Amino acid sequence: MGFTAGTLLLFGATGDLAKRMLLPSLCALDADDLLGDDLRIIGTARSEMDDHGFRQLAREALEQYLPANRRGSMAHFLNRLTYQSLDATRQEGYDELARKVGKDHGGLAIFLSTAPSLFEPTIKGLQQAGLTDGDVRIGLEKPLGTDLASSQEINDAVASAFDESRIFRIDHYLGKETVQNLLALRFANLLFEPVWNAQYIDHVQITVAETVGLESRVAYYDDSGALRDMVQNHMLQLLALVAMEPPTSFDATAVRDEKVKVLRALREVAGGETVTGQYRSGAISGEAVAGYAEELGEESSTETFVAIKAHVDNWRWKGVPFYMRTGKRLPERVTEIVVQFRCIPHSIFEGRGATTKPNRLVIGIQPQENIQLSMMAKMPGLDREGIRLRSVPLDIAMPDAFSGTVRRIAYERLLLDLIEGDQTLFVRRDEVEAQWEWVDAIRALWQKNDLTPQGYSAGSWGPSSAIALAERDGVSWHE
Ligand code: BG6
Repeated sequence: MGFTAGTLLLFGATGDLAKRMLLPSLCALDADDLLGDDLRIIGTARSEMDDHGFRQLAREALEQYLPANRRGSMAHFLNRLTYQSLDATRQEGYDELARKVGKDHGGLAIFLSTAPSLFEPTIKGLQQAGLTDGDVRIGLEKPLGTDLASSQEINDAVASAFDESRIFRIDHYLGKETVQNLLALRFANLLFEPVWNAQYIDHVQITVAETVGLESRVAYYDDSGALRDMVQNHMLQLLALVAMEPPTSFDATAVRDEKVKVLRALREVAGGETVTGQYRSGAISGEAVAGYAEELGEESSTETFVAIKAHVDNWRWKGVPFYMRTGKRLPERVTEIVVQFRCIPHSIFEGRGATTKPNRLVIGIQPQENIQLSMMAKMPGLDREGIRLRSVPLDIAMPDAFSGTVRRIAYERLLLDLIEGDQTLFVRRDEVEAQWEWVDAIRALWQKNDLTPQGYSAGSWGPSSAIALAERDGVSWHE
């Protein structure tokens, strides 16, 4: 793991992510005494302001985005903050920053939460100012490129100054407690692993549904679309965690070695295995909302919904479809993984008039953090007219099971890991590139087939063809 950083440099320190997530996460860690006493945090961004101005901005962000009971002594946290304004494309700023950081920085963790177009000039500027040598590591916020080629370009630029062991690529889903819990569920229990394969599993569903629309990220989102915004990263990471072989240990190399094998085993998607959609006007929780084009102010062919039938071509998963869907302006915010088991091979109850349903494991990632296993049980009664069976849930609600423990923001975990140098929950270059390769092939297919997104009403579960995608195989999406 190497050194624990004594200085954290935050690029993009006045941006939306910094205000909503990074500063609140750091303050919450500070409140719990998890940041070393000497850790300094230097914010940089283009805006001109002094330390006082930055602390004021941070205070307002904390008041808005961090619950009062997690703030601790805000003054203690704010005292760690200083600010350096910097134009990412001009060297003077980096030289000034290097003077501020000083030679005795005690180990430097740099976090880039800026437009990806600034990654290359920033790395160059840092390098020329001598800020990349020695005990220095770098965290990178998504998006890391828009396709394989641009991602490689960014990765090459970063690699010219940092070796892979010092690069921390963020996928904030990996910082979520329930996502990490997937590993515990699979590899800290005996029960599931023996049946976690094509012999016992019929299919897997991964849903990441959001109720929000474009929010304030108009330009970014319209260039990106749901496939690149959500599938390329978060959803493929979820799929990899569900499908990976057991790693030999819970360390960065072992875990990432297994994930990348899955990503490389993804079969190229065929025509008819994807559906894209774009929301039209509709209603969410009874409130009318505008359509995508209306929000954007012009017509666009960007997809805000995508459903994919994916296949992992390896021994364990041969013939098991992984249905994935994600979209904006869907009826509810829910991220969940459904593992649908096969039917029992022979029912002894059939002759007594009872039917059995196959078991199903539902792993709720958000907002419900729970694990639910549906089991068949006999309904109470004398059964004079035949046995009646019903599916009942074994239900573990995580907040109840662990009441009294703090529910942390994903970035708390990830920023602390960056400061302390643990790469297990960060994405390695080969993973990102395997993800892009698969996604690029889907985009090429869409282009070849002239696929344009089908309209769906805001507040619905996407275009009807997304339902048909699963129904063709006799599968219903879990709702
Ligand atoms: C981001 C996407 O990576 O993840 C957003 O860019 C999306 O479009 C967000 O809304 C979802 O994250 P979460 O943690 O709210 O599920």
